[in-house]
Formats: sequence, structure tokens, C-alpha cells
Amino acid sequence: MSKSAVPEGRPPAFVYRHEVLHCERAPLPDLAQKHGTPLYVYSATTIRDRYRTFDRAFRGFPHTVCYSVKANPNLALLKMLAGLRCGFDVVSGGELQRVQHAARKAARRVVFSGVGKTAEEMDAALRAGILMFNVESESEMAALAERSARLKKRARLAFRVNPDVPAETHPYIATGLHQHKFGVPIDAARRLYERAAREKWLEVAGVSVHIGSQITSVEPFGAAMERVAELVRALQSHGHCIRYVDAGGGLGIRYDAQELPEFAEHVKAFAKAVTRPLRGLGVHLLLEPGRSIVGPAGALLVRVLYRKSNNGKSFLVVDGAMNDLIRPALYGAHHEIVPVVRPHVEERDIVDVVGPICETGDFFARDRALPPVEEGGLLAILDTGAYGMSITSNYNTRPRAAEVLVEGKRARVIRKRETLEDLLRGEVQ
Ligand code: LLP
Repeated sequence: MSKSAVPEGRPPAFVYRHEVLHCERAPLPDLAQKHGTPLYVYSATTIRDRYRTFDRAFRGFPHTVCYSVKANPNLALLKMLAGLRCGFDVVSGGELQRVQHAARKAARRVVFSGVGKTAEEMDAALRAGILMFNVESESEMAALAERSARLKKRARLAFRVNPDVPAETHPYIATGLHQHKFGVPIDAARRLYERAAREKWLEVAGVSVHIGSQITSVEPFGAAMERVAELVRALQSHGHCIRYVDAGGGLGIRYDAQELPEFAEHVKAFAKAVTRPLRGLGVHLLLEPGRSIVGPAGALLVRVLYRKSNNGKSFLVVDGAMNDLIRPALYGAHHEIVPVVRPHVEERDIVDVVGPICETGDFFARDRALPPVEEGGLLAILDTGAYGMSITSNYNTRPRAAEVLVEGKRARVIRKRETLEDLLRGEVQ
């Protein structure tokens, strides 16, 4: 059965009880009945557990975990994490506003990344008093110098350096090679730090790096950190006060049958790889995990509308689609799909699980062996807590799904299902 449904020493987010899939202690058929489908369901306990496990793995090294808001920006999740003293990694003025909305004082623990910050976004972040800007080009540095001088607010900055280390992941989400648009080449960084140090309102404070996402091996993180540590040493010896190292995010999770250590072990190995090169540098470490905190905590519930077969190929047409979860279409990503009510049969059908959208790319799984599911039956698409809801769209004029947060037996709606009125608001004819 799906690995997420198998306990790993702590209660899993999704588990069968009497052949019915539950999120914590809430039966999924009840949630589907009450809130409709497609429906995103998250386990609050799992998110908290994973955050604490992540944080604990770095004890012994001064650090702040800055959850990467883009993975899942729902206000309820941000508020819950802020309550655990989590910081945040944002990449837009919108994400910053979300953080401020969820927890007024959390801005002090915000790092602002991204290759294209606008003047308005910089101003908002300067006014909010964020912890640090991760600057990605010389032009951006000049813009930040200008905005901070105009507002008379000091901007703490790190350059995001590109360490040129390869990491095995999907090419769309690898970021640490010299041909990528991200960061500044590590060899060119020294000169930029010299320039930044001459700006009155800029405060050189750190070095940051992010080599990509869904990286399951810890070695590339260690290799990147070796290069960063070298740079920090050089900068410090040239009189720059480098107090922060931002190691970015990217630790991968297990989506399929791939062998990965249990989460606590995996993060420990990650922490060791990241911190070892930094010992003795006197820096405070920032971490930007997204997926590894929320990914396994969420599932997308969909209902089977129709079964059909074309020339011997079988399809389950469900009511969720690529606008609700684009990972399979965009990255060829694998997500485990399980029936919400487990049938008592060994039989498996080989099916494509597809949505109603007019694109051949609108699928959740291809040639997947699934137990027989009737029309009207429910499926859970697992490990969709990260980059699920956050990359939804209204393609085909489909309102976005609702989101529900479960804690024990209790479930509460943390985002209402969109309505057609929501979609049409703002359009003019
Ligand atoms: N920090 C920076 C600067 C990032 O660009 C990202 C992710 C993170 C942190 C968080 O990475 P994580 O820990 O979640 O891997 N949509 C893709 C993933 C895109 C990741 C973008 N940046 C997916 O669905 O796989």
C-alpha cells in the first residue's frame, strides 16, 4: 500500500481505519460529502511534527527555519507555523503580505528571495523590517540601494550565489548550475560584496544559496555549502561582517517507491551535510524548507465521474484536473493515488487517471495499477501538500478547490471553494 499510509514511528497524515482512509481521525468520505470535491485536505499534526523534526535536526547550530511560503501559502498554515516561531522565505510582496496578515511580528524573521523584486516590493519589505534580502544581481543591488536610501531604512543583504553544483532533480526545478537564471556566479560575488559595502543604506550581512528542489541526496547540499563556506571565509578576511548563511530549501521527499530514510534520519543527514562546512565561521544559519514540511501532510480528494475505455485503454475521469494539481503535467511527477474506500479484492486495473480539461497533458497518473473504483468513488492523490494548491489556476474556467485543515477528528475549512462569481469579478464586457 502507499507509503504515506504506513506508519513511520509517528502517526501518518493519512491512514486506513476499517478500510476507510482518514486524515488523522477524520474519515475522508465525510469531508468529501460535507465540503465537495476536488478538495485539499491537510493534517495539522503532520505539519507541526515535520516542522519540529526539521528544527530539531539543527539544534546545536544557531539557526532559524524560514518556511518557504510558495510551497503552500494558506494563511492558516502560516499562522500555525508562526506560532511555532518559524520564520518565512517569501518571493513576492504578496507572500510578504500573507505572512504579515498571519502573524504581525513575523516579518522580522522573513527573508526575501527572487530574481525580479520590484521597487514596490522592496519598499514594502523595508517598511516591514524584514531580516534579509537575498539579492540576485548587481542591478537589483543598485535598485535596493536606491530604495533603502529613499526610505532611510537599512537593508540587510545577502547575495544569492550560484555554486555551480549539479543536483539530480527535474530540470525545471534545478537552480544551482551556472546556466540558470538564479543568483550571481560565486566567483563574481567578491566584487559585488565590495560594491554593496560602499552603499550607505545597505548592510552586507550574509551569503545565500539554493541549488534546487526535490533533491533527495544530501551530498549536493554539502558540496554547495563547502563552496559557500570558502566564500564566507574570504569575505570575512576582507572585513565583511557575514553573520548569516542562508542554505535555501530543496530537501526532497519520497513520492514513489524510492528508498529514502525515515524523515527524522533524512533531515539529520541533511543537517550534518549543511552545517559541517560552516563550523567555526560564527554564522547564524537560515533554512528555507517548503516541500519537506508540508508535502506529505496533504492529499487532493477527487471523485470518479466516469469510467471509460478506448481501444482497450482504460480511463478514470475524475472531477479534479491539472488546474488543481499541475505537477504530473508539468514535471511528469509521480503521486501515489489510493482509493478512499479500500475494496476487498486483489484485482488491479491498469488505468489512466485523468481530469476533464481539454488537454492530453491533463492526467494524474498513466498506466497505473489501481483496485477497481466505481463511478462516484473517491480517490486520494497523496503528497500534494506542497506545490499543489499553490500552483492552481482557473484554466477552463474551473473554480479553485476548497482546503480543509484536520486536527484529530476536527476539520475546518481554511479556504472556501471558489465560485464562478469570484472568477468573473474584475472582468469587463
Ligand atoms: N528557497 C528558494 C529560493 C526556492 O526557490 C525554493 C523553491 C525553496 C526555498 C523551497 O524549496 P523546497 O524546500 O520546497 O524544495 N513547483 C515545483 C517546485 C519549485 C520550487 C521552487 N523553489 C514542484 O512542484 O516540484
